[in-house]
Amino acid sequence: MDFKATVNEYRERVEKALDELTPAASVRPAVLHEAMRYSVLAGGKRLRPCLILAAYELFESKNDPMSACVAMECMHTYSLIHDDLPCMDDSDLRRGRPTCHKQFDEETALLAGDALLTYALWILADKYRYDPQLAVDLVHDLGDAAGSEKLIGGQMEDLLGERDEPTADRLEFIHLNKTGALITTSLTMGYRLTGASAENVAIMREAGKHIGLAFQIIDDILDATSDAETMGKPVGADEENNKMTYPALYGLEASRAKAHEHTEEAIKRFEQLGGNNTVLIELARYMEQRIN
Ligand code: IPE
Ligand code: IPE
Ligand code: MG
Ligand code: MG
Ligand code: MG
Repeated sequence: MDFKATVNEYRERVEKALDELTPAASVRPAVLHEAMRYSVLAGGKRLRPCLILAAYELFESKNDPMSACVAMECMHTYSLIHDDLPCMDDSDLRRGRPTCHKQFDEETALLAGDALLTYALWILADKYRYDPQLAVDLVHDLGDAAGSEKLIGGQMEDLLGERDEPTADRLEFIHLNKTGALITTSLTMGYRLTGASAENVAIMREAGKHIGLAFQIIDDILDATSDAETMGKPVGADEENNKMTYPALYGLEASRAKAHEHTEEAIKRFEQLGGNNTVLIELARYMEQRIN
């Protein structure tokens, strides 16, 4: 199967699992579950679940990766709902639709985000409890990535950075954490499901750092160069909000070069890990070349 068909097939499986595993909109309180489903089922690129599946397919395994995909996408979607709130990036458009707080209201969006965050950890514990060590490792990975030293720490410094002069150190901290942490963890969770050794998980983690940095550098470049229709979210917002971004600190050309270098560094590690790594390598290249 060619790369495009494989990714389409991954995405279809992810959409189906999200639809089946996210609580129904009729469950009380209905408006909360409607808001959760509104944001989760809004058709993002599903790159993190694709990374889980590509890492999972490196080696044979009997574990079902779909619950991990759902957990990751719920965690990611919660971070987007809260990122868009008026007190954060104050954004009206997400995944081509009004943001959760525009479609519902701020209070509901806040709670829908809270509920998705908790749900993400619960679903891992629930669906993988047949293998307690695996369940603990997965909850540990995702809880660590979403915590105050990683995702939330990155979001905090992203806000602090709006007021300060940019520095290379802070910029890297922001990108490694607000975005890199979930990307890295998608790879390590997928890989863990195959029973990978701690040593190989560590190599995968290094690959994830590079691919995560590349991903957020491209997001910054697209914010400065693309349009809202292609992106499904507002553009030009980083400059408006005085965000610390790669293009702001290094310029567009040097930022593109850095994204490319980090992609190549990630690919080197995928090659080192071996197995069925073709999709993973192509996914890394696609993430660098993406237009939205
Ligand atoms: C957006 O992530 C937030 C960032 C970390 C840049 P994605 O670009 O993966 O967004 P969706 O999931 O496709 O909407
Ligand atoms: C968001 O970074 C990262 C998280 C949601 C944790 P951005 O603020 O750059 O993401 P977009 O551009 O709004 O998608
Ligand atoms: Mg933000
Ligand atoms: Mg934002
Ligand atoms: Mg952005």
